[in-house]
Amino acid sequence: MRHVDSSNATHYVRCFLTALLSIPLATEEMEEEDSQGTLTLCFHENKDKDGNPSNKVYGVSNYHVLRKNTTVDYEHRGSTPMDHVRVCAMRRFQCGLDEITKAIADRGILADLWARDIAKQRKLDDETEAIADLEALHDDVTKSWSDIKLHRNIGHVQYAAAISVDVEGGTLYTSDWAAFLAAGAKVRDEFEGNVVDLGSKYDPQDLTDMLYPLGGGPTAFKFPDERKLRIEGCATKEDLAHPTEFDSEGQRCIMVGKDGNTTDLTVGRYAGLVSFTQNEVGIESVELGIYNSGDKTAEVFSAKGDLGSLVWHITNGKARIVGQLHSGQNKGGSTSNHVTYCTPGWYLLDQIKKRFKYADFYSTTW
Ligand SMILES: *[C@@H]1O[C@H](CO)[C@@H](O)[C@H](O)[C@H]1NC(C)=O
Ligand SMILES: *[C@@H]1O[C@H](CO)[C@@H](O)[C@H](O)[C@H]1NC(C)=O
Ligand SMILES: *[C@@H]1O[C@H](CO)[C@@H](O)[C@H](O)[C@H]1NC(C)=O
Repeated sequence: MRHVDSSNATHYVRCFLTALLSIPLATEEMEEEDSQGTLTLCFHENKDKDGNPSNKVYGVSNYHVLRKNTTVDYEHRGSTPMDHVRVCAMRRFQCGLDEITKAIADRGILADLWARDIAKQRKLDDETEAIADLEALHDDVTKSWSDIKLHRNIGHVQYAAAISVDVEGGTLYTSDWAAFLAAGAKVRDEFEGNVVDLGSKYDPQDLTDMLYPLGGGPTAFKFPDERKLRIEGCATKEDLAHPTEFDSEGQRCIMVGKDGNTTDLTVGRYAGLVSFTQNEVGIESVELGIYNSGDKTAEVFSAKGDLGSLVWHITNGKARIVGQLHSGQNKGGSTSNHVTYCTPGWYLLDQIKKRFKYADFYSTTW
């Protein structure tokens, strides 16, 4: 679905179907469990394995979001049945529709209030327009998106390498990704590349303060037009080894953000590598540890349906990949002890390039 400007009343409630990062994904194979995760990023294949030009575009998420049996390599070949990838499983879709209905009701309450005061005619007109736009969206979503098979297929799983921990290379990083071939006919028209919707949960000033707890943000970071943050690069191994920012306590860190199905846009702190034991492989792995932002009002960085989300940061005014979220853990009761585990982004891109040698992650058009 087309993304609209944040001044449009339908901006926020349509984002469960818009073609930006963080859309909820579910596959045919896992429909019964109603399990789902989040789109990490997409890339252009450019050239296939043999060096022939290719115009294919792939989407990436965690292996365990796209396939059930994470111990086996998978590659879709020839005419074997496809494992279709859908935007929104049943429950998430219904939830999206409910949010639209709720927005209409909320606007109705305001409209009713303004209608009683002749001086509030302009406000009444705004609410009336917003309600009309929301109702049109509700109609469109019901008519053109309800049928998961007919309307919400956005491709099929093409490749997945069994989840593994890099023991041989000695990094102990986790490889947990799968790629689906995007269905051009469905997504080409609205495709914008790797763009994060900063949404409307935070005001531009608040979000800037969260990303720059010690100030200095506004000069370095220009809030993006239409709240669309384009991913333009990837933090290197060295960047992650030597964070140069400081959190509100003066500790070295990198302030990061992510936008996922369950917790929406959140800000957190990456402070270094941590080890993680409770993974699928049963081998201790090394992960980027992301903690809650430290801001007292801030919520927990991630929850279950956020798996797959891209974690990014902003440096010199540009957004770069930090990691791919693949697990979270509450280390004892309170949300402030929550830690989110990520595979380093540079490592993920390297893994993807082993299979898709010419992958381009930064193309802005289909
Ligand atoms: C909001 O977006 C919808 C869909 O693109 C459009 O039809 C409508 O006119 C927009 N409303 C405003 C106030 O711009
Ligand atoms: C995964 O696939 C392998 C190989 O086909 C099989 O041995 C194993 O039992 C499967 N695991 C599950 C949980 O289905
Ligand atoms: C995705 O988000 C919706 C709405 O916040 C929530 O109801 C749903 O449970 C989430 N999905 C998962 C798998 O967590």
